Amino acid sequence: MTDFTQFPASFTWGVATSAFQIEGAWNVDGKGPSIWDTFTHTPGKIIDGTTGDVACDHYHRYPEDVAIMAGLGVDAYRFSMAWSRVQPQGKGAWNEAGWDFYDRLLKELESRHIDAHVTLFHWDLPQGLQDEGGWLNRDTAYHFATYAAEVARRFGNRVKTIATHNEPWCTANLGYGNAQFAPGVANLKQSVQVSHHLLLSHGLAMSAMREVGSTAQLGIVLNQWTADPATDSEADRAAAAFEYARSVEWFMDPIFKGHYPELALRVYGDNAPVVEDGDLAIIHQKIDFMGLNYYFRSFCSTETPPRQPECKLGKTDMGWEIYPDGLTELLLKLHAAYALPPIYITENGMANPDTIVDGEIADAARIDFVLRHLKALNDARLQGVNIQGYFLWSLLDNFEWNSGYAKRFGIVHVDYATQKRTLKHSAHWYRDYLIQQRPQKTANAA
Ligand code: FCB
Repeated sequence: MTDFTQFPASFTWGVATSAFQIEGAWNVDGKGPSIWDTFTHTPGKIIDGTTGDVACDHYHRYPEDVAIMAGLGVDAYRFSMAWSRVQPQGKGAWNEAGWDFYDRLLKELESRHIDAHVTLFHWDLPQGLQDEGGWLNRDTAYHFATYAAEVARRFGNRVKTIATHNEPWCTANLGYGNAQFAPGVANLKQSVQVSHHLLLSHGLAMSAMREVGSTAQLGIVLNQWTADPATDSEADRAAAAFEYARSVEWFMDPIFKGHYPELALRVYGDNAPVVEDGDLAIIHQKIDFMGLNYYFRSFCSTETPPRQPECKLGKTDMGWEIYPDGLTELLLKLHAAYALPPIYITENGMANPDTIVDGEIADAARIDFVLRHLKALNDARLQGVNIQGYFLWSLLDNFEWNSGYAKRFGIVHVDYATQKRTLKHSAHWYRDYLIQQRPQKTANAA
C-alpha cells in the first residue's frame, strides 16, 4: 500500500489508551478496587494469569508517556479515568489524590499542546457499586451521572471531548452475556437489562454534564461492525440481520431515534429489558460527537461448525479478520440511517506478535493495517460522512483484558519486566505520516 491519502488540515490525529489497561497503581493513593481488580485477582479469569496491578505503570510514568506522544506529534490523546480512583466506592466521598493524578496528566498534556479526549467509563466499575448489584441495579446509572457531572465541573473546560461510555456492548455482552469480562456473568436476560441501564446512565450523564456547562463536546464511544451473512441462505441472512440489530441498532436507535430496534425486541421476547416511562427520552438526546471503534466485521453463519470468512488480508494476533472495507460500509450505512453528529474513529489498530530484534520492532503488518483503514475511512468521508479524527489503538502495549499481556496492540513496545518503552516501526511511521499530513506542524519532540 503506497498511495497517500490526504486528509484536511483540521483532521485530528491521536492515540488511545484506557485506565485499567495502562495505569497500574491499583491500590495507590486512596484508589478503591474496581471489578477488573477483583476479576483479575480471581484465578482462571485471565488467560495468562496476569493482573492490572502494575500494567504499564503509567500512573508513575505518565510524563515519559506524554513525552513520547509529543515526539510522535499527535494532536490528541484519548484516555479514560478510573472512576474508583476519584470516587473509591463509586458514590459518596471523592478522593482528592485521585483527582490530582488526572490534573497532573492534563497539565502535562497542556504543556505539550495535546488535546485531551476523556472517557468516563472504560469498564472498570467501582467494586463498591458491584457489591450493590452493579449495572444490573438501576441506581448505578444515577451514581454514574453524579460522577460525570463532577468530571465536567472540574475538567470540562480543559478537555476537548468527554465520552460517557466506551463500548457499552462489551460491558453488557462480555461482562454479562458470556462471562469473558468482569464481572463474569453469563445470563442473557441480565445482559440485556444491563445494556438498558448503561444507555440510561449515558442519558443521565449527558443531562448532568450539560447542567454543569463546559466547553467540552459530549458524546459516547460505540464499537460497531457490519454483519455479513456467510451465505445467501435465509438462515444466514436472518442471523446477520439480528446480529446488526442487537449490536449496532440496539445502541444507535435509542440514542438517535428514541426506541429499541423492533427486530431485536421481538427476538429477545421475555428477555427484553424493563424500561421505565421516560427512560427513552433521557437516552434520546443530542450528542455533540460519536466515537466509533472499528476492528473487524461480523461474519454470520448458522452452519456447524460456522463457515469462516476468506480473510483475504489475513487475521490479526487476536484472530480477528482484517477487513477495512467493512469500515467504509459501516460508516455509509450509519450515515444513511441516522442524523449523525461529527464522528471520531476513537479506536482502530491491531494485535501483532511483536518481538525486539537488534533493538528494532519491525511491525510492517500494523502499518499496512492502519493505512488500509485510513483509506477506508477516507472513502466514507469523501462520500459525505463527517469524520473529524482518528485515534490509533494503542499508544502502548498494554493489558488486553482477558488476554492479559499476551496481545500487543501498541505502536510503542513495553518490556513489562523493566517498563522500558521502545518505539516500534509503526510509531516512527505514524510520526512521519503525520508530518506528511500537516507539514506546517512540526512534532514538538521531547
Ligand atoms: C476494544 C477496547 C479496548 C481494547 C481494544 C483492542 O474493544 O475498547 O480497550 O481492548 O478493543
